[in-house]
Order: sequence, then structure tokens, then C-alpha cells
Amino acid sequence: MSLLAEIKAKAAAANKTIVLCEGEDARVVKAAAQITKEGIAKIVLIGNEAEAKKVAPDVDLTGITLIDPETSEKTAEYARLLYELRKAKGMTEEEAMKQAKDRTMFGALMLKAGDVDGYVSGACHSTANTLRPGLQVVKTAPGIKTVSSCFIMLAPEGGNAYCPDNVVVFADCAINIEPTAEELANIAVSSADTAKRLCGIEPKVAMLSFSTKGSGNDKKFFDSVTKVQEATRIAKEMAPELALDGEFQFDAAIAPEVGALKAPGSPVAGHANVFVFPNINAGNIGYKIAQRLGNFMAIGPVCQGFAKPLNDLSRGCNVDDIVATVAITVLQA
Ligand SMILES: CC(C)(COP(=O)(O)OP(=O)(O)OC[C@H]1O[C@@H](n2cnc3c(N)ncnc32)[C@H](O)[C@@H]1OP(=O)(O)O)[C@@H](O)C(=O)NCCC(=O)NCCS
Repeated sequence: MSLLAEIKAKAAAANKTIVLCEGEDARVVKAAAQITKEGIAKIVLIGNEAEAKKVAPDVDLTGITLIDPETSEKTAEYARLLYELRKAKGMTEEEAMKQAKDRTMFGALMLKAGDVDGYVSGACHSTANTLRPGLQVVKTAPGIKTVSSCFIMLAPEGGNAYCPDNVVVFADCAINIEPTAEELANIAVSSADTAKRLCGIEPKVAMLSFSTKGSGNDKKFFDSVTKVQEATRIAKEMAPELALDGEFQFDAAIAPEVGALKAPGSPVAGHANVFVFPNINAGNIGYKIAQRLGNFMAIGPVCQGFAKPLNDLSRGCNVDDIVATVAITVLQA
């Protein structure tokens, strides 16, 4: 069974409820129906029946709960919750009522209130607008200070010599643009959790750089190398039980012969399966190289580090992408 099929099967057994915030988007309405039919999750769709029927006339809405913030009796309750959470930041009651009617904020408040188990949005909203409500009201998981994202990279048919489990995790390729050492450490710990929870692999985390164990520690490049070294130290403190090491060049992290040569004795070198890039430039370019030149399939971005699961869809997503993202969100719940 493929990893995605496994994830969907596990999701179906978990019996969770996920809110999809964009009932105005035909792909989301179709995905809601497919998820319900396949039993992957119970769906709460933010929108109303007339609108869903207009954008996706042939879709059977049986079993989907529709909720419209403009008319719902829950809106006032969520507005009070939002006001309580944000009054210290200067939010007024009027502003809270206005914002609670926004569909993405309404979805994030449903999640915060415990009325759903997970949140998926972003088919027709930007990453920033999709994640901001979650960052403001759901906040981070205990022990984690930074929300981040990763891609689950599946090896092509026929496998890959450097990828014995047929899956590796790349982070952060989509959220944190220039993470500090502390943020990078948070990304590493969250990515290990994702690797375990979603991919079922025992994580071996490599903190990536252009330098391996000080090889590039020339004064000119001092800052970028020491950031990764410092991140490695902090991550080890945060999760001492984790197999995590660095800083490594990519080949020292993944190729046993290079790892043995450049970082002898490391528990990770040559065998890493979770790769933490030093910034979003490296991460985003790196996953696209694996995808295009290495024929790996990229699943994600998967958000990690939230106190409760929220995920962001690409605006170019199709119905299958939405179904897969909902299944992943269920397993994070
Ligand atoms: C994640 C992102 C959307 C947040 O941006 P933002 O809305 O401008 O965030 P703000 O700085 O206004 O912060 C809003 C709140 O979220 C918190 N926050 C922001 N980023 C956070 C993170 N990575 N982890 C945890 N909290 C975060 C802030 O502390 C703030 O909390 P507060 O209001 O309670 O004080 C932003 O980092 C971003 O746009 N990243 C790039 C995304 C992108 O375009 N990717 C391209 C895809 S390839």
C-alpha cells in the first residue's frame, strides 16, 4: 500500500472532524463530498447550501455539516472567545465580532474551541491569510515556539539507493524565511515528530549547511555556519533522545561513504531521513530539485508545531490534494 493510501486508511479509522473553510470553492465542495463518501473524516464546511450548490451543482452534500458565520448562533460565542484571546493585543469587542465572521478566522476559532479536530484552508486564500488566524488563536504546541512546515518526499517507483524507507522529510520549505538558530531547532524537533507520526519512520535528523562539522568555518562565512551549529546544540537540548546531528553537507548527511569520511562516529551522518535546511531559499529550492531531477513526489507543505492541526492548501490544488491534506490533518490530531 502506498504511504498516501496508508494515511487515508488510518485517517478513516480515527473518526475525526475537520473544518474546510472555503465553501465558496468548487474544489473544496467536491473534496468535502469525496472525503465524506470515503469516510476519511467528518466534514464541517464553512459556507451555505445555496452557495455550495451554485459552485458545484452535481455534488451530493449528504453527511456534510454546513455552517455560515453570517447566520450561525456560534458566531457570537466565537467572537467572545476571540476577544478574550486577543484583548491584550488591543482587540475590541466590535473588531472581534467582525473578525469572527471571516471564514478562516471562524474555522480557527472552531478548532480552538474544540468543536473540530483540525483545519484545512488555502484553496483560495494566500498562505499568510490561511495561517495567521491559527498563529493568533491556536498558537504553538507545548515545548514548541515556532510553527513551521515540511514536505514529505516519496521516492520514485524503483526506489532510491539513498532512501531505504522510500520516504524522507525536508523542512522548512514554506513558512520561516530566515529562521534564527532557536527557530531552526524548533523546526528540527517538529519535523522529527512529523516523520514519526505521518511517515512511520524512526527519525534521524540532519542539520544542513555547506559545511560539515566545521569544515566551512572560515571567518567570512562564520554567521551562517555557526547558526546551524547553535541550532544543533539547542535542538539536542530540546530533545536529547532524538538522533540529531550537524552541521552536515547534504552528501555527508545522506551518503554512508561520505558520512563515514567527513563525520566519523556520528549517529546520523550517512543515514539521515529528516533534512533541516538553513533557510527557506535552500529548503524550497532543495525540495523542487528532488521533485524535478530526482522524480520524488512532494506531499505538503505539511504544517507542524501548532497546538492543534492546521494545514494550508496550495492555491493550485486539485480535489485529490485536498482529500490528502485532510487525511494528513486527521493523523496530526
Ligand atoms: C507565517 C507567516 C504567514 C506569518 O506572517 P504574518 O501574518 O505577517 O505574521 P505576524 O508577524 O503578523 O504574526 C502574527 C502572529 O503570529 C505569530 N507568528 C508568526 N509567525 C510565527 C511562526 N512561524 N511560529 C509561531 N508564531 C508565529 C506572531 O508572533 C504573531 O503572534 P501575536 O499576534 O499573538 O503576537 C509569514 O511568516 C509568511 O508569510 N511566511 C512565508 C509564507 C509564504 O509566502 N510561503 C510561500 C510558500 S512557498
